[in-house]
Amino acid sequence: MENLNFYNLKEDTVLEDKEIIENLESSSQKKINSKHLYDEIGSKLFEKITNLDDYYPTRSELEILEKKNVFKKNLPESASVIEFGSGSYKKVKKLLEALNNPKEYIPIDISYEFLKTNAKAFAKKFPKINVKAVCADFNQIQSLKKIVQHKSKNLGFFPGSTIGNFVPDEAQKLLKKFAKILGKDNYLVIGVDIRKDKKLMEKAYNDSQGVTAEFNKNILKGINKKTGAKFKTEYFEHFAYFNDDEKRIEMHLISKKNQIVNISNKKIRFDKGETIHTENSYKYSIEEFKKLSISSGYKVIDFVTDKNKYFGVFFLKVIQT
Ligand code: TRP
Repeated sequence: MENLNFYNLKEDTVLEDKEIIENLESSSQKKINSKHLYDEIGSKLFEKITNLDDYYPTRSELEILEKKNVFKKNLPESASVIEFGSGSYKKVKKLLEALNNPKEYIPIDISYEFLKTNAKAFAKKFPKINVKAVCADFNQIQSLKKIVQHKSKNLGFFPGSTIGNFVPDEAQKLLKKFAKILGKDNYLVIGVDIRKDKKLMEKAYNDSQGVTAEFNKNILKGINKKTGAKFKTEYFEHFAYFNDDEKRIEMHLISKKNQIVNISNKKIRFDKGETIHTENSYKYSIEEFKKLSISSGYKVIDFVTDKNKYFGVFFLKVIQT
């Protein structure tokens, strides 16, 4: 396809293996970085989650994206749309439909296969839009900056409340990095899950069909593939709950028994009931998120919620980089 180019910035895996093992050796809380959730199978499972009745965030955000006038009113024409962590193009399609004459689409995703499939489908569907598909980690700022380039009318898009998957300090750092990539006076449209009834939030991460459980456990299969570890998924159980003090949903995998797992030449010991922490999903109030945006160098131009006020989409402008 003529309107499609690929950039693969993925880092080598030796460093990654080291990081994985260190995080699993920790005596206080074992962890696996949540980026490992999104391999090819994981990305497909996540896509399935977003279509579940129990998972309200996607539905609510899509409802907001229908409010085309708000998007048109707040955002520039002829924009370059940079999607941080693109999944399926369902959401960005709605954003592009709302904008005047969008020029370029730059999806950035860690899962190469998934990115490839989606970018191809997108390029075919929007032949007039130039697509630069980038396989990278959001942290690869310098390389990303080169691909995005500093021109006016960059429009960052960060849907799905992915910002909630970062602890607030890291979220602030990430927002600052986005500001650097986008450049001063450019825009960021960001989706944020708003704190609400605990039961409702917990249900979204414990769906009745067990897709979330499968998604969470799939992280172990990915680690096995990547590092040659010998995790048995049947010896772990999905666990997700809202931590009131931290204001976040926490995802864990609980060891069903005392066990030892081999990874490289290390043996990792698990007690029965011990957990691997795989993900956080912070839930903000509108005010809290506005504060975070301002402290990260943005001005809040506008925000919209769905009719239930479950989810918020914020329109931010880069003031400081
Ligand atoms: N960005 C999503 C969220 O926080 C990620 C997510 C949804 C997720 N369900 C999950 C991550 C289950 C791990 C496990 O809502």
